[in-house]
Amino acid sequence: MGFLADALSRVKPSATIAMTQKARELKASGVDVISLSVGEPDFDTPEHIKQAAIEAIGRGETKYPPVSGIVPLREAIVRKFKRENGLDYKVSQTIVGTGGKHVIYNALLATLNPGDEVVIPRPYWVSYPEMVVLCGGTPVFAETGMEHDFKLQPDELERVITPKTKWIILNSPSNPSGAAYSHDELKKLTDVLMRHPHVWVLTDDMYEHLTYGDFAFATPAQVEPGLTERTLTMNGVSKAYAMTGWRIGYAAGPEPLIKAMDFVQGQQTSGACSISQWAAVAALDGTQDHLARFRAAFQERRDLVVSMLNQAKGLKCPTPEGAFYVYPSCAELIGRRTEGGKTIETDEDFVVELLQAEGVAAVHGSAFGLGPNLRISYATSNKALEEACTRIQRFCASLR
Ligand SMILES: Cc1ncc(COP(=O)(O)O)c(C=O)c1O
Repeated sequence: MGFLADALSRVKPSATIAMTQKARELKASGVDVISLSVGEPDFDTPEHIKQAAIEAIGRGETKYPPVSGIVPLREAIVRKFKRENGLDYKVSQTIVGTGGKHVIYNALLATLNPGDEVVIPRPYWVSYPEMVVLCGGTPVFAETGMEHDFKLQPDELERVITPKTKWIILNSPSNPSGAAYSHDELKKLTDVLMRHPHVWVLTDDMYEHLTYGDFAFATPAQVEPGLTERTLTMNGVSKAYAMTGWRIGYAAGPEPLIKAMDFVQGQQTSGACSISQWAAVAALDGTQDHLARFRAAFQERRDLVVSMLNQAKGLKCPTPEGAFYVYPSCAELIGRRTEGGKTIETDEDFVVELLQAEGVAAVHGSAFGLGPNLRISYATSNKALEEACTRIQRFCASLR
């Protein structure tokens, strides 16, 4: 349609949303579908956070907030970074946006010029390349590989950096692979970045609190303080506080960048929802007791899913450190035929046939830039996960 912007033709639709929609349609037609394609915790927002929002409404905190966020939330963000990451930021170095996604989008919009390159390790969260393209930049993909547990290696980082590189986007724990960088793994990457002073670091720490076992979370500016002056540390309340619908994300970084993001935001949203911001103050400053409960539940589910998927013929599933996703390879099953006579040529064929045959919705890895794999979200009940994995095992065993 000639009326629409050319930029739209350069952007891909979200495969995760498409898969969720397909599953929804099948369910509506009466099929018993288990969806493993969702990207949000199945827990409810903790009660004290909801109460803080109700009280904010009662106090009349219902007017336009400052564009960069209400000061009490920006102060809570400063405290959070100090307490949890050992990072020292001033209030003027923080910004609040309408979800983590919007914070990233603003950072890119405020900085990218045509021809600027953004390094994105794959597999990546589906939105990164599309946001870069929408902002006029060029995504440059860095390879990771299952043999490295989907983690970027320093030599590959060195290889993809060019004079045009403006940003690298790091995401740990990762959506879609669940992989998370230890302090030492991250240090090897920050050492490379120290040699390239023109490259800025956008670190998406959205899943910081969802790590399992004795894994210790680390973030680039903490691992290498020398990078602080060119790092945007982004985080949010969506995943750790089960607040996806409240739409609050935040970031901290050098003041000129934050000012530019504020400038962009002032002509877009005029700031994030005031009531949600008060709820986020309670999330960051309040008790973190729910986190132990979330983590224990997710760890149990991760272990269940990894174990059952590794018993499925032809699937290989590494054990990731965090988030609520696993990313098994289905490479051995490519070329096999379903009972209905369809040849599985790609991971997309695999998820489509799996949905048709067994009513299990997963997302194909190629949508995240690395396949043949599947992304499976385990943010659902143990009972549903057990049933879904049993069906996946049956489907894999049925392929000839
Ligand atoms: C890696 C990653 N970053 C950012 C976001 C966006 O978070 P929000 O819902 O706060 O916009 C998501 C959500 O799925 C995510 O997986």
